[in-house]
Amino acid sequence: MTALHLDDLKQYSDVLRARDGREIRVRFVEPRDREELQNYIRSLSAGSRYSRFLGALSELPKSELERFLHVGEADRFTVVATMLVDGFETIVGEARYAFHADTSSVEFGLSIDDRWQGLGIGKALLNNLECRAASLGAERMFGDTLRSNATMIGLARKSGYAFTASPGDWKLVRFAKEIHVEPQDIPCASWRLAAVSRSAAMSSLAV
Ligand SMILES: CC(C)(COP(=O)(O)OP(=O)(O)OC[C@H]1O[C@@H](n2cnc3c(N)ncnc32)[C@H](O)[C@@H]1OP(=O)(O)O)[C@@H](O)C(=O)NCCC(=O)NCCS
Repeated sequence: MTALHLDDLKQYSDVLRARDGREIRVRFVEPRDREELQNYIRSLSAGSRYSRFLGALSELPKSELERFLHVGEADRFTVVATMLVDGFETIVGEARYAFHADTSSVEFGLSIDDRWQGLGIGKALLNNLECRAASLGAERMFGDTLRSNATMIGLARKSGYAFTASPGDWKLVRFAKEIHVEPQDIPCASWRLAAVSRSAAMSSLAV
């Protein structure tokens, strides 16, 4: 179990920058996002949806949408990246990550709206996911993508991930990265704070 206070999701909100300086907010998904999140998934190009979910779907099946909305359940988390478009907070990306305590690892997948790809948002979101993973105590990040997904492979390579075959599926490649980082060295302020208070809480339990 994580030590996040999930009754107040809003405190875990970060501001990132796209390459052109545009402000992107990353926050946990909330119940109010249900319809917009589904519309976001529907609006992705068929190719982006296939790459993200490793199969053909036009929208999230109802049960999967519910899982996406239940932040923290089974140590799985969904975040949305939002931007102000014409004055409205608009979802321009999403990511889902799962903390596997047995292997101290975080598995993740992400997508960026086709209209906003290539602007450095994926890279910024990935950096943010690494902070989130480190604050959970993870020592490794990994994900699987299609061997044909040059963009994700390029992003992972540029972010220092190494590649191996994905277990059980020759069409996929696994990218993984060690992220041994002490709580006080986590490069995102909010997650550094969360990690420092988590490790303080754990050491007070140990005495
Ligand atoms: C993969 C994805 C998340 C990348 O997000 P993005 O915002 O477009 O990526 P960025 O603009 O941050 O690019 C980061 C790096 O990725 C690499 N990259 C981007 N586009 C690329 C392309 N067409 N070919 C190869 N590498 C590419 C580059 O290294 C780039 O860094 P650089 O621009 O400094 O050279 C996005 O394209 C996407 O949502 N694709 C569909 C869903 C998907 O494939 N998800 C991954 C499943 S795990």
